[in-house]
Amino acid sequence: MQRAFFEEAARYVLRQIDRSLDVFKDTFPAPASQNHIYPGIANVEWTSSFWTGMLWLAYELTGAGKYRKAAEYQLASYRRRAEEEIATDTHDLGFLYSLSAIAEYKITGNPAAKDTALKAADLLAKRYFPKAGIIQAWGDLNDPEQCGRMIIDCLLNLPLLYWASEASGEPRYAEYARTHVRQAAKYLVRPDDTTYHTYYMDVETGEPKYGNTHQGYADDSCWARGQAWGIYGFLLSYKYTGDAELIRLAKRLSHYFLSRTPEDGVVYWDLVFTSGKEQEKDSSASAIAACGMLELAKQLPLTDPDKRLFEDQALSILSGLAQNYTTKDIPESNGVLKHAVYNKPRGMGIDECNIWGDYYYFEGLVRVLTSWRLYW
Ligand code: GLY
Repeated sequence: MQRAFFEEAARYVLRQIDRSLDVFKDTFPAPASQNHIYPGIANVEWTSSFWTGMLWLAYELTGAGKYRKAAEYQLASYRRRAEEEIATDTHDLGFLYSLSAIAEYKITGNPAAKDTALKAADLLAKRYFPKAGIIQAWGDLNDPEQCGRMIIDCLLNLPLLYWASEASGEPRYAEYARTHVRQAAKYLVRPDDTTYHTYYMDVETGEPKYGNTHQGYADDSCWARGQAWGIYGFLLSYKYTGDAELIRLAKRLSHYFLSRTPEDGVVYWDLVFTSGKEQEKDSSASAIAACGMLELAKQLPLTDPDKRLFEDQALSILSGLAQNYTTKDIPESNGVLKHAVYNKPRGMGIDECNIWGDYYYFEGLVRVLTSWRLYW
């Protein structure tokens, strides 16, 4: 019964992918939709690979060559982006290359995909500040506004570095990732199991400075998607390092996230809100958290009393999304999940679809329906 429900949910995602298969070929969906329609843009955003990642998921779920062909076609664009350093002043190289080049390399063994991902890892490694032990999130390394700023989202970029050490035999990439994740655990996680979105380090002395927010409601509130990045991200580093502290952190952050999740399974854009109609939901945060909790349930030993809880909660989030948050009632939409928020303080993508929400929702469904091997 439950399987049939999730199969139907995945069929809807496949239908939405099919309608855009010939559209997003040389262009990519913009980060957020406008009136529930993604415009096509060049490969310049941090989000291009969520579309390519959905193509790989679709290929793995169905075995249909059309998805593989479409995903493989896009490798040249990622290669050019890394070689010509087009909009690469960002830590989001991890998102960009894990779901495109690394996914392709893991699935097909294409050496050009491996080479492309290693180029991206080199660019990401240049953003590491040894004294502070962190990877700078955004912008030029000399930009005083951004210098020494780490953000919780970066945890999803670290797998590119761990993978690069495995693929190249060069330990420094993984060392940077290990050091960064320790700093993130120390400074981004607060004692009440909430998280800062961003934190500044002094890159000259290595001293911590202060935390604040960029996309949350307030500096001391808990931005919902940041918490979700933390759940999934600390766990991914646990998988690569075996550091038990990181799985404990993923559990703590998950418990907090669940304690702020409303009845319908989908959080508000900041976890300071838990009810009412005045504030928007962020379906993408719940989709990310569901993937993190499914992985958490997988990693926890049978003896852990929370193993079952996280699996049940993840399934309940996915089924809440499938029941009430898809674009089924908006026939003109080329998105999958509605009611997401990109950046509320800056008025971007509010109550729209966003492409990472679509990706993680689909990843969650593919996790439930298959024994999926991570691209991360
Ligand atoms: N990583 C950027 C965001 O979550 O909006």
